[in-house]
Amino acid sequence: MNPTSGTAKQKQVPGTVKIGTLTVKPATFLAPIADITDGPFRRIVRSFGDVGAVFTEMISSDAYTRSCERTLHMAAFTEDEHPIFFQIVGKDPARMAQAAILAETAGADAVDINMGCPSSTITRHGSGSALLKDLKLAESIVSAVRKQISIPLTVKIRSGWNRDSLVFSEFGKMAEENGVNAIFFHGRTRKEMFRDTVHYEDITRLKSECSIPVIGNGDIKDRDTLEKMMDTGCDGIMIARAAIKKPWIFAELLSGFRLSPKELISIMEKQFRELTEIYPEKLALHKMKTLSGWYSRSIPGGKKLRSGLNRIHSQAELTVLLSEFKNEISH
Ligand SMILES: Cc1cc2nc3c(=O)[nH]c(=O)nc-3n(C[C@H](O)[C@H](O)[C@H](O)COP(=O)(O)O)c2cc1C
Repeated sequence: MNPTSGTAKQKQVPGTVKIGTLTVKPATFLAPIADITDGPFRRIVRSFGDVGAVFTEMISSDAYTRSCERTLHMAAFTEDEHPIFFQIVGKDPARMAQAAILAETAGADAVDINMGCPSSTITRHGSGSALLKDLKLAESIVSAVRKQISIPLTVKIRSGWNRDSLVFSEFGKMAEENGVNAIFFHGRTRKEMFRDTVHYEDITRLKSECSIPVIGNGDIKDRDTLEKMMDTGCDGIMIARAAIKKPWIFAELLSGFRLSPKELISIMEKQFRELTEIYPEKLALHKMKTLSGWYSRSIPGGKKLRSGLNRIHSQAELTVLLSEFKNEISH
């Protein structure tokens, strides 16, 4: 008997998605992750394959349009990273539009507007997920940006501010009416932050209501959670946290790729070298400590590495720590 016949469920994998004029294949996206998805990280994720497009970390439209040096650094990307979605955050329509023009000029493949970040450092200024409380302002931003760029425009949203104010349907409609080309949807409210599980039913509903692509986001970390997300009918998937623990997660999910702990340490050493080339020592060390904390969760005995990280204060110490740890593990 054909094993795929009868009631056996076909495995679903992300196919191709068309976002405006951009075709993304496979329809898999590395999420924007503040302080993490910089150039070196994006290139490592890309090197494993099976990622259709990557996102910059969120770029403040205020800082970017004022040419703040640190932000210009964060916003930079290289030829081998395309297609790349440039995420902007802010609440002033004119400034957001100006930032979008700069992103287009810099060669970004698409601009994404952050309407989902729950962090109070962002929401207290009325940006990120605070926009979910102000549909009119959100619409002014989208419309101002849309008028100024010709590359695809997307929005990244959550379900609403809390479960008593679910607004994803209204935001989906608004996005569609204002020429947005796709919606990245993390199916939780701002209040839920990262708690409990993602509301797959919200994603299913938005997908049934929208004619533009809906990319499902939230909790994807293995084949089972990928299937659950694909069951919503979404047009593609986006991953954040699992990619910080395993930058090869897309290749693992789509091609069954595995990476040994020893190989992961080698990747960390390479990434650390790249970080020290582009950032001052203190910042490179801070970034690498944060990343190593996440990576170590994919390594048996990684707790020892994490506690070692707390004790180091220089690049040289980190190099020694990684090399000693690598020698201690068997494969
Ligand atoms: C450390 C961290 C930083 C994040 N930074 C951003 C960001 O800059 N912009 C954004 O839209 N979302 C940001 N997010 C949210 C993720 O892009 C994603 O929507 C969320 O983590 C859910 O996906 P996941 O379950 O795959 O992690 C961040 C999440 C984390 C954990």
